[in-house]
Amino acid sequence: MSSNGTTPAARTVASTQSEMTEIILPNDANTLGNLLGGRLMHFIDLTGAMAAYRHSRSHVVTAAMDHIDFIQPVHVGDLLILKSSVNRAFNTSLEVGVKVWVEHPQTGVLLHVASAYLVFVAIDENGRRMHVPQLLPETADEQRRFADALLRREHREAEAARRKKARLVTAALEDLAGAHPE
Ligand SMILES: CC(C)(COP(=O)(O)OP(=O)(O)OC[C@H]1O[C@@H](n2cnc3c(N)ncnc32)[C@H](O)[C@@H]1OP(=O)(O)O)[C@@H](O)C(=O)NCCC(=O)NCCS
Repeated sequence: MSSNGTTPAARTVASTQSEMTEIILPNDANTLGNLLGGRLMHFIDLTGAMAAYRHSRSHVVTAAMDHIDFIQPVHVGDLLILKSSVNRAFNTSLEVGVKVWVEHPQTGVLLHVASAYLVFVAIDENGRRMHVPQLLPETADEQRRFADALLRREHREAEAARRKKARLVTAALEDLAGAHPE
């Protein structure tokens, strides 16, 4: 139970499931009439935030969005369908998976466009981080995503540590070069 006494200790994946459908308009597209990658990332961020919000019932900020491959182009007039749910909750953060399809409006054929994992952090009205309820994976797929989310978190942490070390080495080398100009 959270400090306000109303948040449950755990939520199901089903209670976080969210969906958004958009019709792609010229304003969303590049000069060839294809959906812009940045616009797609915006839709992914929004759909991911909906699942995070349903889980935490608090404000959330995007802490990270993992690597995305754009598998399939999306054209003006197509329908874009995005679905999200929470994969795992940690302390103040949670991982959300978002999957995106394009629906051709005349044929109804659905094609996979992209998938992404995002990390959101729950924040209260004063900007302080909040604990989130734990997630209860129920089905075999949910349990697989739950286990994989921990591996991705460990990978993100290792990668953040590697980047931090590289920045420190670069700064030290720059200091050294400054101390000994040619
Ligand atoms: C995300 C943010 C709240 C993290 O704050 P912080 O003081 O660095 O917090 P910490 O390092 O103590 O980490 C807090 C939690 O966030 C997670 N986290 C922080 N940075 C992360 C990152 N880059 N990727 C994944 N998780 C991250 C930590 O793992 C931790 O999770 P846990 O509480 O579940 O164990 C802060 O960096 C922030 O406000 N960023 C800007 C968010 C924003 O404006 N988003 C929109 C950008 S366009």
